[in-house]
Amino acid sequence: MNNVKYNFPKGFLWGGATAACQIEGAYDVDGRGLSTSDIHKYNSTLDRKKYRSKLVENEHTSETLAKAVTDKEGYYPKRHGNGFYYRYKEDIALMKEMGFNSFRFSIAWPRIFPNGDELEPNQKGLEFYDKVINEVVNAGMEPIVTMFHYDIPLHLLTEYGGFRNPKLIEFMTRYGKVLLDRYGDKVKCWIPFNQTNLIQYNSFKSVGILRDKTDNLVEDQYQAIHHQFIINAKLKQYAKKLNPEIKIGIMLADCTYYPHTCKPEDIVFAMKRIRMQYFYADVQLRGEYPRHMFRYFKENNININISEEDKIIIKENTLDFLALSYYYSRTLDSEKNTMDPATISENPYLEANAWGWTIDPLGLYHSLSQYWARYQKPIMIAENGFGYEDVFEDGTVHDDYRIDYLRQHIQAVGEAVKDGVDIFAYLPWGPIDLVSSGTAEMSKRYGFVYVDLDDFGKGTGDRFKKDSFYWYQKVIASNGADL
Ligand code: BG6
Repeated sequence: MNNVKYNFPKGFLWGGATAACQIEGAYDVDGRGLSTSDIHKYNSTLDRKKYRSKLVENEHTSETLAKAVTDKEGYYPKRHGNGFYYRYKEDIALMKEMGFNSFRFSIAWPRIFPNGDELEPNQKGLEFYDKVINEVVNAGMEPIVTMFHYDIPLHLLTEYGGFRNPKLIEFMTRYGKVLLDRYGDKVKCWIPFNQTNLIQYNSFKSVGILRDKTDNLVEDQYQAIHHQFIINAKLKQYAKKLNPEIKIGIMLADCTYYPHTCKPEDIVFAMKRIRMQYFYADVQLRGEYPRHMFRYFKENNININISEEDKIIIKENTLDFLALSYYYSRTLDSEKNTMDPATISENPYLEANAWGWTIDPLGLYHSLSQYWARYQKPIMIAENGFGYEDVFEDGTVHDDYRIDYLRQHIQAVGEAVKDGVDIFAYLPWGPIDLVSSGTAEMSKRYGFVYVDLDDFGKGTGDRFKKDSFYWYQKVIASNGADL
């Protein structure tokens, strides 16, 4: 694909994506409450290659949660982020310099509703996002906002048991409506839930389930997801009346699965695993539960409360676009893997980074083609990127490896565009280095801009442009023609 020129559509959105809990810091400032992200402790002895299959380490019980809240010894990087709360003007100026015409970020739920169940929002929290959104808009960027990116107010876990409790429909819908009312004139593109399909990797941060408070974890996960479907539908219903220009999307993560061999068992197994991931978008883009899920529920002792009223609101309020994060593909072996999404096999044809995330641009092309065939709804690449332990020297980082990765993935997007797939945005992850979601390291860097902070938050926090900064600037200026 190296010499091909790509013509991205006029008005294509080029930018970057972040999450409040990985950048803002200031976790106890201006009335912000504690959230699930604040109790992710940095673990310097973590096995980077294996952590993905052991994400259960990031899960909590009532006891470990209480300990983390009062712990004075450990370091909790997401409480401190990369300092965006104080440096947002500088960061937005750097993005503007790169030529961004869009910026995806999240609003921290615990800044707006510190406990989650209040009736009135915290004004100080809203004022912070007034400033951020104005800065983004004034810099000529379209703000794309995630309402919830892994930061459930802790009180909603301890008091209500997280999203499996229908009360959360009321609380999150109230929060979402506050955001739509306040920012709906400036923010036209909303993603209520980050990567809604990852419940089985992280039921703590996605749906707020404490392990000691559940007798049937999988049932509770699916009940919680059902409640998130209703929230999405209610917010869509509200937004339609408020301003028909507002678009609401469903977001999925990393859904490329390859069968390990051409053995029919492997092919069917991979198909079954991937349809479990499509399920979330099936409900919200097509308007109903796919029938195979009812068989799965029945055979696995999962009883979900789905009322007739729920079915109607979901059916009548399908969402507007599909947001997609893509980092790597997975390979499945029907003999070695199970339906547990954490189980995958090695792909001998692909190289990977230090965390075992494979480099597979064709996987992105494959996914985009599949999604388009299935849904025919506009697609946003809401995240993509290459985590690497950068070497900072002479005031910069020579990150050719990142440029190569991004170039190949933009080419893959360009190929899909040539096929006629409606893709309207490419937003690489973490344009300014930030704290890792999965491992809470600072040294897993994605940015075009280096941030002088280590895994323990030591450093000046100053920002330095990497080689990729100038490369991405050129890509944007040429609307993707100059890669
Ligand atoms: C996505 C998340 O899954 O992957 C981001 O939405 C996250 O929050 C990104 O940062 C990369 O993962 P990690 O673990 O490398 O930070």
